[in-house]
Amino acid sequence: MTTLVDVWLVDAREPFDECLNPDERRRRDGLRLADDRRRFASAHSALHRILPGRTWTRGPNGKPHLVGTTLQVNLSHAGEWAAIALTDGRPVGVDLQDLVAGLDYAAMARRFFPPVEADITESGTFAQLWARKEAVVKAAGDRLTRGLLLPVAGDPPPRVTHDGVIYTLADLEAPAGFRAAVALAGPEPFVIRTH
Ligand SMILES: CC(C)(COP(=O)(O)OP(=O)(O)OC[C@H]1O[C@@H](n2cnc3c(N)ncnc32)[C@H](O)[C@@H]1OP(=O)(O)O)[C@@H](O)C(=O)NCCC(=O)NCCS
Repeated sequence: MTTLVDVWLVDAREPFDECLNPDERRRRDGLRLADDRRRFASAHSALHRILPGRTWTRGPNGKPHLVGTTLQVNLSHAGEWAAIALTDGRPVGVDLQDLVAGLDYAAMARRFFPPVEADITESGTFAQLWARKEAVVKAAGDRLTRGLLLPVAGDPPPRVTHDGVIYTLADLEAPAGFRAAVALAGPEPFVIRTH
């Protein structure tokens, strides 16, 4: 059976009914900037509207997991936007990247990416590849630093192996000025439904 991945893009500028658990309220209150507090509350309130009344736990590197279900979910923040990916059975990672003006993308690609990706100079390509790598790392519940050397260039994106697990990648439609990707554990293709 084909895996279905539901993806929500959440605009933090939209009004929302706040819906946070005590741990999230504590984390939100610890953010220094009011805009960051609003963005955090918007994304996590959306998560609770999609998945009401759930219990959460965290993996060794901080990945939130749902307790008592085979549903798999992941969240990413960038600027005023958040992305949420939800599927059943296969660990999922999602990443949203904004195109930051003034960065020397060519130097960053040479420094952080594998040699086959070191000649990237275009900001959109750089952000797309970064999003793919981070989506894989997040599907694995790992750390970003362990993913930047993964080779992910290609159209369509290649399958990649991280810590012995194959991940299947797809680029997501993202708001103007952003790039996004989703990764699922396992080599089987999947279908994305965007909300
Ligand atoms: C996971 C990681 C790649 C996410 O980076 P980020 O810039 O915060 O990116 P995103 O906005 O895309 O993702 C954040 C969300 O991913 C989820 N998340 C947190 N840790 C995660 C992990 N290890 N794997 C998957 N998802 C994770 C959370 O829902 C988090 O949102 P929240 O803080 O509002 O709950 C990065 O934080 C990391 O490498 N963490 C591992 C621990 C570590 O080394 N931290 C030092 C910072 S590099």
